Amino acid sequence: MIADAAAQREIKLGFLRDACRGLPGAADTEPRWVSSPDAFGYRRRARFAWHGNTLGYRALHSKHVNDIDECIVLVPPLRAAWTAVRTRLTDALAGSGEIQLQLGSGRRVVAALITGADPTPALFDACGALSADPSIAGVSLRTADGGAPATWGDEHVVLFSQANAGINDTLVRTVAELAAPEGLRVLELYSGIGNFTLALASRSPSALVAVEQDPRAVEICQATLEGRGLRARVTAGDASQPPKGRYDVVVLDPPRQGARALFERDELWPGPKRIVYVSCDTATLSRDLRIATGRGYRIDRMIGFDMFPQTAHLESLVRLVRA
Ligand SMILES: C[S@@+](CC[C@H](N)C(=O)[O-])C[C@H]1O[C@@H](n2cnc3c(N)ncnc32)[C@H](O)[C@@H]1O
Repeated sequence: MIADAAAQREIKLGFLRDACRGLPGAADTEPRWVSSPDAFGYRRRARFAWHGNTLGYRALHSKHVNDIDECIVLVPPLRAAWTAVRTRLTDALAGSGEIQLQLGSGRRVVAALITGADPTPALFDACGALSADPSIAGVSLRTADGGAPATWGDEHVVLFSQANAGINDTLVRTVAELAAPEGLRVLELYSGIGNFTLALASRSPSALVAVEQDPRAVEICQATLEGRGLRARVTAGDASQPPKGRYDVVVLDPPRQGARALFERDELWPGPKRIVYVSCDTATLSRDLRIATGRGYRIDRMIGFDMFPQTAHLESLVRLVRA
């Protein structure tokens, strides 16, 4: 049974309230909620796994694989591709591994397989058969210890930032509004392919520095900025050691692990007048907010974005201002 939309909202806003509870500003800040335009069929990438012939999702915090024949939160092309994967690969799988599905050319899907052990000839044949399915643009197969993958078809993926396109537009707009970068020096950390960078750059900051560790994402971000006539300094590097300088606004969107190493750097404080923190993990968000509020900040905005309806995951945005 799935909780209805109102129950999911209350549960997830509870995660956000808990993350901020007791911190300066939290008691005076009523959390806002942004629903996903699509409650189902919204997710445009997925990571599955197999163990033996069982194909599905890994159970939470476990290596166990739950057999999943259909996933209703995936966008239609990924749903069709998952059916093809199960049909074509199940009998050829052994050991364990991972299958990532992402959109590729022509709204068809790229399946990237990573095996724990050397692939068998049967798996090679099955990958070839999978690549011929109309839902599939391409397939790649590699072992977990690296090395060049074997490929079939067109295995180039369309790089998106957030998994749910429908709600991402609102997230980007809100980040830019709350950052209010006009005429200010802005530091954006964990910038990916520039999802927020473009919106920040278009609001005429006096300077914008973005940091991302993936050089390919940095290149895409730079090219997109250039294509739109926007300016920012985008650098490939570790966001926990940002370029030295004085910034009025910091925007960050770290992976699940959060940004503890960054927040624990003495040089960051006394820091910007506001920090816009986008998080996909309320536990690490809470830990980092505790550090920032201990350094003289208070919370003045809390927003839950329902990026992942029907799941226990939440995308949160918290703004901190100097107390
Ligand atoms: C949650 S994504 C956010 C991307 C972007 N803000 C967006 O909306 O698409 C986190 C990003 O942080 C990058 N990343 C992870 N660890 C990093 C680090 N130590 N330094 C810089 N970037 C890092 C990842 O490559 C990824 O692009």
